[in-house]
Amino acid sequence: MCGIVGYIGHRDAYPIIIKGLKRLEYRGYDSAGLVLYDGADLKMSKTKGKVSDLELKAEKEGTTIGKVGMGHTRWATHGVPNDVNSHPHFSNSGKLVIIHNGIIENYEPLKIELIKRGYVFKSDTDTEVLINLIEEVKKKENCKLGKAVQIALNQVVGAYAIAVIDVEKPDEIVVARLGSPLALGIGENEYFIASDASPFIEYTSNAIYLEDEEMAIVRLNKPIKIRKIKDDSLVDPYIQELQMNLEQIEKGGYDHFMLKEIYEQPSVIKDTYRGRLLVDQGIIRMAGVEDNLEKFTNAKRIVIIACGTSWHAGLVAEYIIEEFARIPVEVEYASEFRYRNPIINKDDVVIAISQSGETADTLAAIKLAKEKGAFVFGVCNVVGSSISRETQAGAYTHAGPEIGVASTKAFTTQITVLTMLALRLAKAKGTMPNSEYQRYLLELELIPKKVEEALQTTNEAAKAIAAIYKDSPNCLYLGRGYNFPVALEGALKLKEISYIHAEGYPAAEMKHGPIALIDESMPVIVIAPNKGHYDKVVSNIQEIKSRSGKIIAIVTKGDTQVKALADHVIEIPETTEALTPLLTTIPLQLLSYHIAVMRGCNVDQPRNLAKSVTVE
Ligand code: M6R
Repeated sequence: MCGIVGYIGHRDAYPIIIKGLKRLEYRGYDSAGLVLYDGADLKMSKTKGKVSDLELKAEKEGTTIGKVGMGHTRWATHGVPNDVNSHPHFSNSGKLVIIHNGIIENYEPLKIELIKRGYVFKSDTDTEVLINLIEEVKKKENCKLGKAVQIALNQVVGAYAIAVIDVEKPDEIVVARLGSPLALGIGENEYFIASDASPFIEYTSNAIYLEDEEMAIVRLNKPIKIRKIKDDSLVDPYIQELQMNLEQIEKGGYDHFMLKEIYEQPSVIKDTYRGRLLVDQGIIRMAGVEDNLEKFTNAKRIVIIACGTSWHAGLVAEYIIEEFARIPVEVEYASEFRYRNPIINKDDVVIAISQSGETADTLAAIKLAKEKGAFVFGVCNVVGSSISRETQAGAYTHAGPEIGVASTKAFTTQITVLTMLALRLAKAKGTMPNSEYQRYLLELELIPKKVEEALQTTNEAAKAIAAIYKDSPNCLYLGRGYNFPVALEGALKLKEISYIHAEGYPAAEMKHGPIALIDESMPVIVIAPNKGHYDKVVSNIQEIKSRSGKIIAIVTKGDTQVKALADHVIEIPETTEALTPLLTTIPLQLLSYHIAVMRGCNVDQPRNLAKSVTVE
């Protein structure tokens, strides 16, 4: 979590830093700060609150001048989000200044040692310990900043992406990474530093992504030198051409990124299957799968690891892969997997799902699975992200930047990739008749159109229902089979952006406890497409109805049975059962969105959350 931006070059750094921080605010938004070298000194402004608060403060304090500088937007780990704990942090001498994304786990013993040597600390942060450690090393070793950073980092346990400036050498910024992302933008006589490429997309399309345990000295008018932190060896910089464009990271006329991203689903699902779903040839071709087909078809078991919404996509995939390809699938929270000595065999395939590709728990779980000899396949959205590089093969979702903290298009594109994977495996293993396989290809190709239709037809209904239930303190979501994970996802969406307590359940589980919660004030959202366990779901609806619960049902167009029972219905287009999650999820996203807007919540930046969870 936390976003960092830096600039060194011929332009004014201030607008680049402020704009960059606004683009990175999805990574954390409880405080923000910046520092600029104004030609004589380092000037800093920082504050609790959002980047817009920082902008006001910096302008009032005149911290706007300089061609070298850096900024930070924070998701607090150590110390409450207040002005003092905000980044940047100066060293005791006032000569060195740092911004940091990550956690220094051994900061306490280091702090005690530094206090013994006379250092005093203003903040509660681990970061202030790191900058003073760098200062102490620099003094003791009488070395340059780069060397001091390197020696200090070798004493540190934890995760970091850092940028450090020395007032005595303001023509360079020293950067380093371990576990938190760091991109360097290479312009004409100028360099950009950022947690992702979005802050510099309009200035350059050339970027270097630092690898873990690498550091660089970014020096004006000099080529970037990258070194390994551990042994000082030089690394050849690999300059990538960025695929992102400015339009993708702007709201494009929508009130919120979340709404824009919900409405992008028809086109991004198409992007996900473009060049892979080849209906004319009657095949699916995904390079990462083709190259490793034997590993998949010989797998005794597939283990899926992920967090949050990506974990829900993994649950949908469990149903689909088992049904289509008859391979046993287990789905685990990455945070549990990594800490429980899981049994992983060499013939297991592990699939790691992550939108950001930076989730710390998923990354650690991948490393553990690899250590145990498993083949790890990644399903990521962010190209070049840590998880996409750590996995041995994979498939990108091609959803484009997802900026709203609540994941929407990432979910449906993950399901699309995983469905294609399941179909490809079914074909390879001969577990699905060819006629059925071909029918799925055709139906999957139609999904973007159907999502488009669902967006058009369900938005007003979702809004009207939102107006009725926006003040409910609780809400239940029920589904069965493929739509049980959709119920979980619907509840997560409501919780995270509207702060209403919501739970998702398999509908049949109600009678084992949760039905006790039902009374006339409890809204129950039931996902009831006309396929699969429809009759069973109808019975579940009756059980809730007879206890006076309020039923909001997601049904297939033309449904009559559920319509007769439910208080409200939202209709979605018809599709084959396994693909229904791609449609049933749409009204649930819209319902949460409208409720959050009506409750005056910050839809794109819900409280206490950040988009990339780079801490465990
Ligand atoms: O980037 P990832 O997919 O690895 O992120 C996992 C979760 O943090 C994420 O899905 C989170 O639950 C979202 N806020 C849900 O909307």
